Amino acid sequence: MRCVWACVAVLIVNLVPEITDGLSLPAPPTSRTCIIGAGYSGLAAARYLKDYDLSFVVFEATKHVGGTWHYDPHVGFDEEGLPVYTSMYKYLRTNTPIQTMEYTGFPFPDGTPSYPTATCFHKYLKLFAKSFDLVKRIQFKTFVTSVEWAAGRWIVSYTKLDSKENATESCDYVIVANGEFLNPYVPKFQGLDLFKGSIIHSHYYREPEKYQGRRVLIVGAGPSGLDLAMHLSNFTKKLVHSHHLKYNQPNFGPNYKKKPDIITFTSDGVVFEDNSFEELDNVILCTGYEFDHPFLDKSCGITKSGKYVLPLYQHVVNIMHPSMMFIGVSKKVINRVFDAQAQYVAALIAKKFELPSQEEMLKKWVQHAQSLPTKRMKLVDINVIGDQQDQYFGNLTKEASIPRVPPVLTEIRDFNAKIRLEDLLNYRDYDYKLLNDYKYERWYNYREDDPCPIEI
Ligand SMILES: Cc1cc2nc3c(=O)[nH]c(=O)nc-3n(C[C@H](O)[C@H](O)[C@H](O)COP(=O)(O)OP(=O)(O)OC[C@H]3O[C@@H](n4cnc5c(N)ncnc54)[C@H](O)[C@@H]3O)c2cc1C
Ligand SMILES: *[C@@H]1O[C@H](CO)[C@@H](O)[C@H](O)[C@H]1NC(C)=O
Ligand SMILES: *[C@@H]1O[C@H](CO)[C@@H](O)[C@H](O)[C@H]1NC(C)=O
Ligand SMILES: *[C@@H]1O[C@H](CO)[C@@H](O)[C@H](O)[C@H]1NC(C)=O
Repeated sequence: MRCVWACVAVLIVNLVPEITDGLSLPAPPTSRTCIIGAGYSGLAAARYLKDYDLSFVVFEATKHVGGTWHYDPHVGFDEEGLPVYTSMYKYLRTNTPIQTMEYTGFPFPDGTPSYPTATCFHKYLKLFAKSFDLVKRIQFKTFVTSVEWAAGRWIVSYTKLDSKENATESCDYVIVANGEFLNPYVPKFQGLDLFKGSIIHSHYYREPEKYQGRRVLIVGAGPSGLDLAMHLSNFTKKLVHSHHLKYNQPNFGPNYKKKPDIITFTSDGVVFEDNSFEELDNVILCTGYEFDHPFLDKSCGITKSGKYVLPLYQHVVNIMHPSMMFIGVSKKVINRVFDAQAQYVAALIAKKFELPSQEEMLKKWVQHAQSLPTKRMKLVDINVIGDQQDQYFGNLTKEASIPRVPPVLTEIRDFNAKIRLEDLLNYRDYDYKLLNDYKYERWYNYREDDPCPIEI
């Protein structure tokens, strides 16, 4: 196993023959930064760059801020023919308390439920963009098609989706913040093409009403799979749920059936590993998402697949070309991690601190890779922070001399991850309050409606 990592390191070193010691990152105030994406992560980056009075532009493919949180009933393309990237669905409420999602120093108004609706969270993101006056820095309907490293600068090419015109901008820094939940992952299933009913990925799912009286299969029990089991069980005639998550399954009603993995699809249903067969009309694959950075040219020096992006120092800096940074490619973390990454990136561009040498960064990265618990020591885990989150906050903020994100947020994250699976139907009916850097309070506060006291 150890060789795997040594080999990867050797491979990377060989990819870029002239690893230089001592980095000469461009100096402010003349430097220019291109940010790709105006979701939670891109907006956070814009806010902190603006704080430092740095020059930047944000490219956003859609006409909205807030990324995936902007619910749109359309799938694929909207009424103007613009791409719809959102994975949000009707009735979605956050699965993490807002206390772990808020931007630094920008709390939700009092009276906001700790688990608000997606619409409410999107309102918050809009208010954030407005409050920090970020909107005029964003070029909407601007789809980035390629990022190339040429003659010591980043050439960012994009298509204006209105006029279909192509243009480029050259930047000293690039911040990649195009999200990690836009590209559906669809596993291969035997007999899939035989099935006569409809099959969609949850990315394309919007509302339960349409499944009234249908016989539906949900595949997977990640956050979307569990949500859909709840949202659909009262509408469907039969709800079959294939997954192998061990959790405290609530009562989803008489029409619900739990099933093991799929053996094969047939023309009118599915055979499962317990050899049972279910007739079905619709299948919704809640099988998750993969990374997607189609615009990164080879010259960026990034090794990527749907499962990983590497090598990144502190889960952020492209070690091959440290003037390229990623925000939001870290897995199993709270949103506040992306806020901290944005603050780190802005401090770096503002030259508030310096990176170690490339060799040193690569060494640390290999150490990180080797420190993954052996049973999970796989390339696919390289972008997972997970239970290292508090330590990560400590490392990241210390290096950049930015305020330490308090451990209480990781406490809440860990508790929430557990309680979701123990009390799926009710865990969102609680509110949280931070008491200090280490302690929080949680109490039951069921509400009939879904209040959202945000005025824009
Ligand atoms: C259904 C669902 C529910 C979720 N629920 C929660 C939750 O409850 N709690 C939680 O903490 N997290 C949740 N998440 C995770 C969510 O991804 C983060 O909350 C957050 O939205 C990540 O923000 P981002 O800016 O990194 O990515 P995104 O929100 O995906 O934004 C990326 C932006 O980049 C733009 N873009 C992409 N490609 C290009 C291109 N080539 N050119 C120009 N622009 C481009 C997109 O249009 C988009 O606006 C959920 C995710 C999904 C999909
Ligand atoms: C613009 O760029 C895209 C992607 O590189 C390309 O497919 C398209 O043909 C270009 N359009 C024009 C008008 O040059
Ligand atoms: C389903 O409907 C019943 C009866 O109207 C209701 O009590 C229950 O909360 C609903 N379940 C879900 C998951 O919405
Ligand atoms: C934090 O830094 C220490 C010391 O360099 C390192 O051993 C550890 O792996 C780092 N942890 C994370 C999550 O970054």
